[in-house]
Amino acid sequence: MTRILAIESSCDETGIAVVDLLNGAVHPVAEFLRSQIDIHEAYGGVVPEVAAREHLEIILPMLSHALSAVDLASVDAIAVTRGPGLAPALRVGVETAKALAYAGNKPLVPVCHLEGHIYASWISNPSSVSLPPEFPALALIVSGGHSEFVLMKGHGKFERLGETLDDAAGEAFDKVSKMLGLGYPGGPKLAQLATLGNRFAYSFPRSMLDSGDLMLSFSGLKTSVLYQLRSLDSNLTDQVKADVAASFQAAVVDILVSKTRQALAVTGCKHLILAGGVAANESLRQSLSALSHDSGVTFHLPQFKYSLDNATMIAAAGAFRFIAGHTVDPRDCSIDPNLDIV
Ligand code: KG4
Ligand code: ZN
Repeated sequence: MTRILAIESSCDETGIAVVDLLNGAVHPVAEFLRSQIDIHEAYGGVVPEVAAREHLEIILPMLSHALSAVDLASVDAIAVTRGPGLAPALRVGVETAKALAYAGNKPLVPVCHLEGHIYASWISNPSSVSLPPEFPALALIVSGGHSEFVLMKGHGKFERLGETLDDAAGEAFDKVSKMLGLGYPGGPKLAQLATLGNRFAYSFPRSMLDSGDLMLSFSGLKTSVLYQLRSLDSNLTDQVKADVAASFQAAVVDILVSKTRQALAVTGCKHLILAGGVAANESLRQSLSALSHDSGVTFHLPQFKYSLDNATMIAAAGAFRFIAGHTVDPRDCSIDPNLDIV
C-alpha cells in the first residue's frame, strides 16, 4: 500500500487530501476542500492575487486538520500541483508542500493538474463496482483552460492527439455565461439555465467537425452567440436567454461527442475517460455515456465531486507517479503555470 498526502492550489480551490493506493485503485482517507467562489463572484472571475491571499490564509489551518486526522509518519510522499494554473496561487501550494516534505523528510512528487483530472477516474467509488481504466485509454480533458484529446498508453504515458485552436470548452461556457449576464462561475450557471430552454431554438455552428483531425475550436461558436444576442437586443426575455443557453450547450456537446467518436475510431481505444471541470456538465456526461454504450466502450466518468478541482485527484496521480519513482528533492521543485500533460 502507498499513502500520499497531496496539496492543490492551482486556481480558486484550496485542497488537501490523503489517499491510499491499493491493488491499482485509489481510496480516499481524508479530504479537505475550500472553494473561493463566493469571494471571486464579486469580481466576475478569479483574481490571481486574491486567490493566492485566500490560499495563504487557509492552507496551514487546513494542513493542521489533515495532520490531526492522519499521522504524517504513515505518509509515503507529499504530492503537489506544480501547474498549469495561476502563478501566485500555485506558489502557495508548492511552497507549503516543499516545507512539509523537507521538514517531514518525505519525498516530493510534483503533479500536472491535468494528469490529476485524468486520475480522478482511478478514485474508488463506494457506491459502484466499476473498475479503473485499462490501457490504451482515450482521455478527453475539458477544463477552464484546456480542451484536448490525450491517448494514455500507460501510467504517466501520454500522447496528445488534438487540442483546441482557440478557447477551451469551459472558457466558452464562462464567456457565454457572462454575455447572458449570469456571472461567475459560468459553466454551472449556464448549464442550469439550459435545462429551462429549447436546444433547437437557435442553430449555432459546430466548427471543425470535418477537419479530418482531432483539433477543436469554440471561438466561432462564441462569436455566433454574441451576434445572436445583439440581434435579439430588446427581445431578450428570460425564456429567450434559456433557449440561447440550451442551444449553445447543445453545440458544445455535439462538437465534443462527434470528435470523441472520431478519436475512438482512430485510436481503437476501448476505454474512454472524461476529465476536467466541464465533466460536471450533465448533458455532456449523458451524451458521452450514450456514445460509449453504442460503441462498446467502457466509459470512465469521475464522481461528480471529483470532476471539479480537488486534492484527491492530485493525490491519485501522485501515488502512481511515486511508485514509478518520479520524486524530486523538495528544494528543486518550482511552479510551472504553463505546464502541459505532454
Ligand atoms: O477543472 P476546473 O475546475 O478548473 C480548471 O482546471 O480549469 O474547470 C473549471 C471549468 C470552468 O470553465 C467552469 O465553467 C466549467 O469547468 N464547468 C462547467 C460546469 N461546471 C464547471 N461547464 C459546463 N457545465 C458545468 N456543469
Ligand atoms: Zn482543474
